Amino acid sequence: MVDMQPTTPRKTVAILGPGGVGGLVGALAARAGHRVVFLAGPPTVEALRADGVSVTSTLFGDFTVPVEADTVLRDPVDLCVVAVKHTALPAALDRVPASLVSDGLVLPLLNGVEHVDTLRQVFDPASVAAGVIRVESTRTAPGRIVHGSPFAQVDLASRTAPPARVDSAAEILRGAGLTTRTRDDEQAMLWDKLTVLAPFALLTTRHRAPIGEVRTAHRDELVELVTEVATVGRASGGTVTIEAALSFSEGFPPGARSSMQRDAEAGRPIELDAIGGAVLRAARSHGIPAPTTARLVAQLA
Ligand SMILES: NC(=O)c1ccc[n+]([C@@H]2O[C@H](COP(=O)([O-])OP(=O)(O)OC[C@H]3O[C@@H](n4cnc5c(N)ncnc54)[C@H](OP(=O)(O)O)[C@@H]3O)[C@@H](O)[C@H]2O)c1
Repeated sequence: MVDMQPTTPRKTVAILGPGGVGGLVGALAARAGHRVVFLAGPPTVEALRADGVSVTSTLFGDFTVPVEADTVLRDPVDLCVVAVKHTALPAALDRVPASLVSDGLVLPLLNGVEHVDTLRQVFDPASVAAGVIRVESTRTAPGRIVHGSPFAQVDLASRTAPPARVDSAAEILRGAGLTTRTRDDEQAMLWDKLTVLAPFALLTTRHRAPIGEVRTAHRDELVELVTEVATVGRASGGTVTIEAALSFSEGFPPGARSSMQRDAEAGRPIELDAIGGAVLRAARSHGIPAPTTARLVAQLA
């Protein structure tokens, strides 16, 4: 296990959901010298207490850190990273008493746009920020994390938390080694990620094919879907134009598969409602037709 050398003032960090994202972020924070408490179900808690969290990463190196783990949060924290899948969010939130995050920041790194308001109904809005992570990281077993992307970038923004709290959380993440930016516009940040992600996730899952095959065999459908989602995204506060969204969809490596597709193939619940469902609800609220999105969501449901 690595020696922990504090690089920034020692803070207390909770990680709700020690999976691909939470495990990586928490292990990096622990390696940077922070007190990290992972919150999970009993079998995962037992595994983490026994063996810590191991990370395999070309960017951050291979390392193992001892960590604390518990089924509920028991002490106040400076930062609570929420990194469960959206389908597990309501049950997982029972592990975090609101009073223990009231002086800190709750930072969800889930894909989707609507969960931030859910968190503001559970916690004081002054303690809630929105976050977006760009990374490819997989939990291969409890406490075993394989980080495959040559990047790991977190963006934070909040329309309800004081900027000093957001900055202080950003400092923890930056000090842990993650490329970290604070942004002014929460809605733009969330919708820009969803605009790029939703077509990739829905079409690779629907056709059980990597994006390269989707681009060639289902091109018209891809263009229709990207156009719909980008139109909805712009109406919802996003900045990604249809042209930019199309160009993003061209930029994925041909063999790229989405995590929604991997979840579907493994028989796990998929984040369909948080991704496709959210686009449809926003389309309806803006009076924008979204027939391709609606058909794909119905087919995948
Ligand atoms: N992975 C990526 O590369 C990536 C990139 C960008 C965004 N995201 C987004 O980040 C979010 C998390 O994804 P992920 O890939 O990290 O998911 P994941 O690997 O499936 O991890 C989810 C974790 O949540 C835990 N969990 C489930 N129910 C729980 C509960 N009731 N209480 C506490 N913990 C619970 C699971 O615990 P067990 O270990 O006990 O099963 C698992 O460790 C998703 O919204 C995803 O779309 C992921």
